[in-house]
Amino acid sequence: MNIILLGPPGAGKGTQARILMDRHGLVQLSTGDMLRAAVKAGTEIGLKAKAVMEAGELVSDDIVIGIVSDRLDEPDVKAGVIFDGFPRTAAQAEALDNLLAQKGMTLDSVVSMDVDDELLVDRVSGRFTCAMCGEGYHDTHKRPEKDGVCDKCGSTEFKRRPDDNAETVRARLEAYHAETAPLIAYYEAAGKLKKIDGMADIDDVTAALERALGKGA
Ligand code: AP5
Ligand code: MG
Ligand code: ZN
Repeated sequence: MNIILLGPPGAGKGTQARILMDRHGLVQLSTGDMLRAAVKAGTEIGLKAKAVMEAGELVSDDIVIGIVSDRLDEPDVKAGVIFDGFPRTAAQAEALDNLLAQKGMTLDSVVSMDVDDELLVDRVSGRFTCAMCGEGYHDTHKRPEKDGVCDKCGSTEFKRRPDDNAETVRARLEAYHAETAPLIAYYEAAGKLKKIDGMADIDDVTAALERALGKGA
């Protein structure tokens, strides 16, 4: 099963993708994570993407489509892919249709996660992740069970994203509304769209997502 999680910054795409990965063996394909890795490694793509990401704008379609195409050539994607943060523009959505057709893959569902803008700023500003395993946390909504220690791997090192400040979040939200939200209609017309309430608690969102995907526990 190949699915897209569509939603604004802070909607919970990454949080839910990791849960689906653990529970159902799907592979998370997060273009944001891949771009951040490229920035950290100082690759050519990373050098081009760094300033754009820090400004909360979208990295060029060519770059992003290229990294997704390469990723889809790796064998593990056969288990099923959760696209997290891709596609984000009409050009990316069309490119994904073509890539999937070329690689003999199909798109099963696109799940749109609805969350009000005011809530998103709080979610993004309070976010931090484990520096070792990438588990995501939040200052108020999801603290580690033991303060300062990752529940998943025991690491005591955490990090925050440079684009998670109130000003950049607003730029990211603008980019979402201008470029990405129109994809909801695109996938509705294709008969693939499912909508869930992203404002519920993390566990309730997972349950709604699993029902939408026909993977109820
Ligand atoms: P990307 O990394 O994709 O960021 P984003 O879309 O802005 O989304 P986030 O990762 O901020 O949010 P999320 O939905 O994953 O939320 P999370 O689960 O962490 O992209 C970053 C940048 O890279 C872009 O701005 C762009 O420059 C570039 N880029 C990436 N892809 C691109 C593309 N395709 N094209 C062009 N450019 C691209 O949750 C957020 C917080 O809330 C966490 O702390 C979590 O614990 C908490 N939380 C989650 N769910 C709940 C809940 N139900 N209740 C309470 N708290 C919750
Ligand atoms: Mg994310
Ligand atoms: Zn960890």
